[in-house]
Amino acid sequence: MNEPKNFRIKSFGCQMNVYDGERMAELLSSKGMPEAKEGEEADLVILNTCHIREKAAEKAYSDVGRMVREDGSRPMVALAGCVAQAEAGEAQKRSKNIDIVVGPQAYHRLPDLVDQAAKGGRPVDTDMPAISKFDAMPARSKSGPSAFLTVAEGCDKFCTYCVVPYTRGAEISRPWGDIVSEALSLVERGAREITLLGQNVSAWSGQDEKGRTGGLELLIRRLAKIDGLERLRYTTSHPADMDEGLIAAHGDVDKLMPYLHLPVQAGSDRILKAMNRHHTAESYLKLIERFRTARPDMAISGDFIVGFPGESDAEFEETLAIVDAVRYASAYSFKYSPRPGTPAADMEDQIEADVMDDRLQRLQAKLSEHSLAFNRSKVGQTFPILIERKGKKPGQMIGKSPWLQSTFVETGAVIGDMVEVRIEQALPNSLGATLLEKVPA
Ligand code: SAH
Ligand code: SF4
Ligand code: F3S
Repeated sequence: MNEPKNFRIKSFGCQMNVYDGERMAELLSSKGMPEAKEGEEADLVILNTCHIREKAAEKAYSDVGRMVREDGSRPMVALAGCVAQAEAGEAQKRSKNIDIVVGPQAYHRLPDLVDQAAKGGRPVDTDMPAISKFDAMPARSKSGPSAFLTVAEGCDKFCTYCVVPYTRGAEISRPWGDIVSEALSLVERGAREITLLGQNVSAWSGQDEKGRTGGLELLIRRLAKIDGLERLRYTTSHPADMDEGLIAAHGDVDKLMPYLHLPVQAGSDRILKAMNRHHTAESYLKLIERFRTARPDMAISGDFIVGFPGESDAEFEETLAIVDAVRYASAYSFKYSPRPGTPAADMEDQIEADVMDDRLQRLQAKLSEHSLAFNRSKVGQTFPILIERKGKKPGQMIGKSPWLQSTFVETGAVIGDMVEVRIEQALPNSLGATLLEKVPA
């Protein structure tokens, strides 16, 4: 296979994969390999995959299959991300079209792996080296108005259904100085909003310039001082790791947006225990109350799993009850998917597919009612949105509200502008607005 001249990355799964995809792109570009333009064929395709549910993992292999062109040729294919970590060399046994396998902690070695593949090798690198991949990465070279920044990675929670502790490894916090300098360079390159990422971001801890030890609150307070940065968000939090300081920050850091993604997964304490979640329905609800006391307009978002092994009808009803109690602004809900190597996959009483379908439908109907109600509560209000992309109609732009709602507006403003709007219409997944004025930069 020839040395590739350009590349394309396709990222699936969570926001961290999107972030990793950007870093891999910057790394290859810094080595002189440009990204393929739209419509242009790429010599190297990197599939940055997700292993979280069976469907997501299967998608990786069907995408590999689709890489073969009509004339039988194909680009060099690198399998990256969590499927790569989970399957390692097995992936190449399953598909002869995978040249490189590179795990989420080893992608700083990609240029070297590409060289090996160009010489006919089929390198697999799923090491989780002690030196951080971040140290080996070039500085940030690009940013959109809304940027992701990984501050913590990995997970030590071992929820019994979840592959992440195996695919991303043990929890690590990136050092303070690295995070601050990456945030500064993102803002220099146009970021006005930064979302701090971690599988369990609320467990971040580190030492500031003065050697004081602190958690996510301290970091947020520091980043909020960056001129030109208007908005801060963080995701994903675990209910067992939220502290008073972080809650208080929502009350007094203006740049910290009133939005919290706090997965609960299920409403039954017996199921939560079987999931190894370290919280109960009641402790979760109390936590939400504390956030709402600090910041009354806080939008709460969550993740749910229906049909965890052994979940009875009555236990599922408890999930519906917690949804009503919290009134989620938005949520992601999934059918339980048994994952190889996780304890729940071997549990008895796996739930039938049709029961799961039915539960998911009922849950999603309820979640939609609440998100529509939340969106409706904004009609008539005025606030700034950060323009992120063009809408489908001419002159239409789409921006995000402080509560992360996609908001449509007709305006001459461009991507990256903050504009003040009035909300005229609420839909289940978006808001319609009219323009009031542009907020000065
Ligand atoms: N704390 C993580 C969660 C990652 S997984 C984070 O940083 O986002 C995202 C969601 O996928 C989980 O909250 C859970 O609701 C869901 N999920 C995880 N494993 C699953 C499985 N085996 N089956 C179905 N859904 C799952
Ligand atoms: Fe997975 Fe649980 Fe860790 Fe989230 S907290 S990544 S669901 S093990
Ligand atoms: Fe998927 Fe890995 Fe993210 S399994 S959800 S890409 S951490």
